[in-house]
Amino acid sequence: MIHTNANCGGPFRTSIESDLVLEEAHQAMADLLNAKFADEIVFGANMTSLTFAFSRSIGRLFKRGDTILLTRMDHDGNVGPWLHLAEDLGLKVRWLNFDLKTYEYDLDEAAALLKDGAVKLAAINYASNCLGTINDVKTITKLAHQSDTLVFVDAVQYVPHGPTDVQNIGCDFLVCSPYKFFGPHQGVLWGKAELLSSLEAYKVRPADNNAPGKFETGTQLHEGQAGTLGVLEYLEWIGKTMATEFQANFPDFSGRRKYLHAAMLAIQDYEETLSKRLISGLQNLSGVDLKGISNQNAFSRRVPTVSFTVKNQNPQEIAQKLSAENIFVWHGHNYALEAIRQMDLEKSGGVVRIGPVHYNTIAEIDHTLEVLKTCW
Ligand SMILES: Cc1ncc(COP(=O)(O)O)c(C=O)c1O
Repeated sequence: MIHTNANCGGPFRTSIESDLVLEEAHQAMADLLNAKFADEIVFGANMTSLTFAFSRSIGRLFKRGDTILLTRMDHDGNVGPWLHLAEDLGLKVRWLNFDLKTYEYDLDEAAALLKDGAVKLAAINYASNCLGTINDVKTITKLAHQSDTLVFVDAVQYVPHGPTDVQNIGCDFLVCSPYKFFGPHQGVLWGKAELLSSLEAYKVRPADNNAPGKFETGTQLHEGQAGTLGVLEYLEWIGKTMATEFQANFPDFSGRRKYLHAAMLAIQDYEETLSKRLISGLQNLSGVDLKGISNQNAFSRRVPTVSFTVKNQNPQEIAQKLSAENIFVWHGHNYALEAIRQMDLEKSGGVVRIGPVHYNTIAEIDHTLEVLKTCW
């Protein structure tokens, strides 16, 4: 902001230098997600705004009566934009439910919904911000692609908790939010180069005709992109200094890409110790009903975001009591409206949601459990 604050594309020092920062931010995000090209990375205000914008561009491929697939587990950021599109274009909507006992999708049900070839787009979630479930997005993508269905993955909840590899998943689009992985309030979309190139963007005429510029409408938040680069430098440092034993898991990657992926694997490994402590502690508290995977052998299929209800207790009051002890947790539906409705928890105030991340400690989990003992 002090030395290189300028708009893009000028022939003068400040513009040239700020353009280099933006380019590096795109490349660093490509490294985090294992994208083939930096030009496959589109920055935007947040995941929701990017998804609204892309739903319009993708919608240009559809015609009245076409079908899309949405899920009951998704955050509304990956539901609302598609419902608006369905309303505007007269699309049919199919829903993928989750199992109320396992808190996971039944892949046979997903296959059945996709197999007749009618579905033009599947909007699915990598990890649930309500249940914590990590979904098998690779298999769902494979099923979808058998019928040429486009796959749009919301990875906002997953990216802070594990290594993300868009080429391995094979999906067509994937969205995430740097503020969820400790960076600034920004959104990022990755899309396959050929799709970004062929999709029509809602853009002003003088703007770039190529991706990512054609989708990065108006003047971008340069300081947000620089901050995203900053947080990726932090994660790279974790990968270099604290995740050496995980680097060998990524023999095909080198440099920053290898360090970022090793860092996220180390984080995933560490966070599992937090989830185990938190969930086993919650299971020992009277009246607690966990809303997510609680079998310790299945913890590789969940992030440490843990939701629960307590018999005859109001989630908001529990969050307020914890807040009085400087423990900050969310309550309610957390925008995962469909998930809360499928569990019939809308009227009773949703869930309490505790979301530890890699900088939290076992001591903090224990303290939270001690305070919870006094909450009801
Ligand atoms: C799973 C998930 N998807 C989407 C979003 C929306 O992201 P953004 O705030 O960047 O629009 C959130 C935000 O909480 C989320 O948790």
